[in-house]
Amino acid sequence: SGYITLDSGYKNTGATKSAITFLDGEEGILRYRGYPIEQLAEKSTFLEVAYLLIYGELPTKKQLEDVAYAISRHTLIHEDMKKFFDGYPSKTHPMGQLASLVCSLSSFYPESLNPNPTKEETELTMLKLVAKMPTIVSWIFKKAIGHPLMYPQNKFDYVSNFLYMTFGHRTEEYKMDPVLVDAMNKLLILHADHEQNCSTSTVRMVGSSDCNLYASVAAGITALWGPLHGGANQAVIEMLETIKNDGGDVDKWVAKAKDKNDPFRLMGFGHRVYKNFDPRAKIIKKTCDDVLAKLGINDPVLGIAKRLEEVALNDEYFISRKLYPNVDFYSGIIYRAMGFPTDMFTVLFALGRLPGWIAQWKEMRENNEPIGRPRQVYTGEIAREYVSMENR
Ligand code: CMC
Repeated sequence: SGYITLDSGYKNTGATKSAITFLDGEEGILRYRGYPIEQLAEKSTFLEVAYLLIYGELPTKKQLEDVAYAISRHTLIHEDMKKFFDGYPSKTHPMGQLASLVCSLSSFYPESLNPNPTKEETELTMLKLVAKMPTIVSWIFKKAIGHPLMYPQNKFDYVSNFLYMTFGHRTEEYKMDPVLVDAMNKLLILHADHEQNCSTSTVRMVGSSDCNLYASVAAGITALWGPLHGGANQAVIEMLETIKNDGGDVDKWVAKAKDKNDPFRLMGFGHRVYKNFDPRAKIIKKTCDDVLAKLGINDPVLGIAKRLEEVALNDEYFISRKLYPNVDFYSGIIYRAMGFPTDMFTVLFALGRLPGWIAQWKEMRENNEPIGRPRQVYTGEIAREYVSMENR
């Protein structure tokens, strides 16, 4: 079979060509379609960024209005899907539900199932997925806390509608808080794409077998769940809480993270590609200070996070390995201040990453990429004769 190059974890193997996201890990640069992440986070809305990622250009006013209107026509999910929410035990992790529900959309919207979809079918599926995701996410939340589900109100913009369905109540007028809308937009933008990370590569891999978009994205959601990837935002808060309850001795926990005989790692630290700093973490740290100040919240774990960062950044172990805070380090503190429970954090990451997954799936299909099928270096037994049961 010829010579196979082994690269476990694809540390140095390009799996595709892509024109969506540029990332320079040495310089700490991240750009979507050429636009710096700093400018997008400051000036645009999440829906604008979603359009940019999926279609390649920032939308004109008319294009954005048209897409927002089209999305507003699809924000409901099929009423029968409510039965799924009733079927889960109340303590189910939201990520498992989200993956199953997104995969199930393929059953309710079968135009997605054509293995060679027309442009119109693909457009419709992309639109439906973007439109229905906030409804699914907020309904998972509502079910978990035992509150009645809130139906979308299309007078709201995309992010506001999500916040309304999540934090609104049937019994009172919902007061939209511009601080939350702004913070949510920023966080979703910062998570919107990150080139060939584990979940995105999964979406492309699954999609490469001509699998439909819903199922491909469901696979991405599953990949994102793990604590080494998107699940790190939940793991960070749990770690900070543990450190707080242990007396707040940051040096002790940094020592544990350095100890090779201890499986503990500093969650929210380190990145496969960033070896200077994570530009998203810089923006999120500042946003965290702003949002907590504006909401008048004093979260003791923020102080622990800052001390942990300071100690680690001055420690030879972290310096020599170029380990810096990543996107997940401060994001959970903001989510918590906004009112989200810890186990919803990774779901919010998924909501943000959705346009990236869609853009990457679309790009792969348009470029007619071949099915993903890595090779291996076989290390097992070469050839053996079958041994009958009585002789084993
Ligand atoms: N704490 C302590 N040591 C670490 C950490 C950490 N967080 N991250 C890496 N190291 C050490 C690691 O032990 C290794 O040391 P040595 O060379 O002595 O064996 C060295 O640094 C290189 O690490 P690696 O595991 O080979 O690097 P990787 O590129 O395979 O892994 C990573 C990247 C993000 C999985 C890893 O840094 C990690 O586990 N971080 C904690 C989890 C986390 O925050 N994940 C979120 C990533 S960013 C957003 C996202 O993708 O969702």
